[in-house]
Amino acid sequence: MKKSILFLPLVFSINSYAASMEVLHWWTAAGEYESQQVLENSLLDAQIKLRNFAIVGEGGDSAIRVLQMRALSGNPPDAAQIKGPDIGEWTKVGMLEEVGSIIDTSSWAEILPQTVRDTISFNGHYMAVPVNIHRVNWLWLNKKIFEQLKLPVPVTWDDFFAAADKIKAAGYIPLAHGGTAWQDSLLFESMALSLLGSEKYINAFVKHDPAVINSPEMIVVFEKFKRLKPYTAKGMVGKDWFQASTLLSTDKAAMQFMGDWAKGMWNASGKAAMSDYLCVDVPESAGLFSYNIDSFVLFEKHNFSNENKVQSTFAQTLLSPKFQTEFNLAKGSIPVRNDIPMESFDKCAQKSFQDFASSELVPSFTQNLASTSHVQNIMTKIISNYFNDPNADAAKTVKRLSLALRAVN
Ligand code: BGC
Repeated sequence: MKKSILFLPLVFSINSYAASMEVLHWWTAAGEYESQQVLENSLLDAQIKLRNFAIVGEGGDSAIRVLQMRALSGNPPDAAQIKGPDIGEWTKVGMLEEVGSIIDTSSWAEILPQTVRDTISFNGHYMAVPVNIHRVNWLWLNKKIFEQLKLPVPVTWDDFFAAADKIKAAGYIPLAHGGTAWQDSLLFESMALSLLGSEKYINAFVKHDPAVINSPEMIVVFEKFKRLKPYTAKGMVGKDWFQASTLLSTDKAAMQFMGDWAKGMWNASGKAAMSDYLCVDVPESAGLFSYNIDSFVLFEKHNFSNENKVQSTFAQTLLSPKFQTEFNLAKGSIPVRNDIPMESFDKCAQKSFQDFASSELVPSFTQNLASTSHVQNIMTKIISNYFNDPNADAAKTVKRLSLALRAVN
């Protein structure tokens, strides 16, 4: 009798997974890990064992490189975290499963916002499964430091620089900022959106219109962007975003520009929105929303019915209301579905949900939502070199950017 009870869990664990599924992503920081656990448990509930193919670093660039190698050798994973125009690039290679061919997507027109549907579509077909919406143009504030120094929440860039000077004088780091190129680029994106507005932002970073890229206004954006550098900490070369975010949550730094995945990380370390940190619009960007939509593409499995079954369960799970709630609570993002009750979410997520419905939306170029990762990498390098070279000239950088974009378009 005793023996059979002892054996029960083992027998159960072997028989309980009908299948397994390999998924590539770059969710490795705290918060991201918790949301990945939600994915793992939700799949387990559906009898699928998740095989995590998690690649650390470079805001997903390393993950994409590894994926390219796997795909070239004819051995892609079952699903991969691919977003924005890269979805179209992978579709053109002919390796992706059309989502509508494995699950019923007829309700998507009703439950998913148009922007989301456009992002995951190629030639009128859904080619990826969306999971969340992150807002990128956030400014995060350490509440304790702001209260201690009696600083008002910065609404304009003048307010921001005035606060940064006071924070520096008080011995804190004004701006938590890591040392990788995409993080520099994210600062630039936030500054550019607020100074240019949505139309010029789209003309510059989505359409690559030389009249906006190579303009006196863009030179001003670059010059103002460079003013942020002295407020960042020294010794951050190569440091990732979550290392910078830790400076804020440990009361060493007072502000950070970052997408709301940072919130996921702070929450995972026991901090809470509105009591430990505040979320405000990047100065002068109220009413503008730079979005980043995470999604997964499904690699074609040549109609092996079991593989297709696993992928269809995966796709259905990601869009289920339960998963949408639990996953996004952990990730710091908002549900991709427009019919999820937001009461259990914090004030920042509730603001983001409302703002997404009412703001002027622009795709985040640093998060690969505005161009392919190839083009985005070229832009990011130019922007980051300028930010880190004390002698770099804004006018020359604008010219370089314009020439580089002409070459790739
Ligand atoms: C992804 C997020 C992720 C962040 C930091 C972004 O590109 O879209 O899901 O949390 O990178 O790793």
